Amino acid sequence: MPKSTWTAVDDYLTTKLISADPVLEATLDANHRAGLPSIDVSPLQGKFLHLIAQIAGVKRILEIGTLGGYSTTWLARALPQNGRLISLEFEPKHVEVARKNIARAGLSELVEIRQGAAADSLAKLYAEDPSPFDLIFIDADKPNNPVYLEWALKLSRKGTIIIVDNVIRNGEISSSASKDPKVQGTRTMFDMLSANPRLQATALQTVGSKGYDGFAMAVVS
Ligand code: SAH
Ligand code: DHB
Ligand code: MG
Repeated sequence: MPKSTWTAVDDYLTTKLISADPVLEATLDANHRAGLPSIDVSPLQGKFLHLIAQIAGVKRILEIGTLGGYSTTWLARALPQNGRLISLEFEPKHVEVARKNIARAGLSELVEIRQGAAADSLAKLYAEDPSPFDLIFIDADKPNNPVYLEWALKLSRKGTIIIVDNVIRNGEISSSASKDPKVQGTRTMFDMLSANPRLQATALQTVGSKGYDGFAMAVVS
């Protein structure tokens, strides 16, 4: 099945299931104009994250990897008025674009974007306030996925949902000999999911406008 079919089906489902959304469209447009890579989650994936957050009634969200704030916006829109989303991003230019996008979306009161290497920001965040998050979305540099999962556990309580993006990588995830550090980082993260009795996890392969990839999801006990 060619990628053009996945994209056509994504377009069909997006038309059927996702209302025209000038704010999210303005975000993608601003990202494009600023030269950010188009590696945001797709609209259908963004809505999937939104629905998970809504179903679970989450109040505190941690996102690792902001880019232009597209997934941030989908997630933050599921928060109540007293909710909070902290998103971590290394690239100052991405932070600048994302802050503008979040302001345009009317979400600046709920969303805080912290610039820096996420591993450093996580250490600071934990030292400042170790209160657990209800949902943690890991979507930054994949070689560090094991580091991010470790921090996610420290910032979790019973019932916290951890979602990791891009865990399939065109199917390369099943190749133990892969030379790709992104794949190896994610394989180590799966080893951790597998070995940790506090975590119940699954993963879903996805195809669509973003190609062949997938999400992992875990619940902390
Ligand atoms: N979640 C976004 C996409 C994130 S893309 C969305 O779906 O809309 C991955 C982001 O992680 C990029 O913006 C990249 O700059 C950032 N990143 C890469 N290495 C990082 C690091 N060490 N710390 C924090 N962010 C990092
Ligand atoms: C990459 C990162 C992502 O978060 C994504 O959704 C797709 C690709 C990447 O680093 O290649
Ligand atoms: Mg991603």
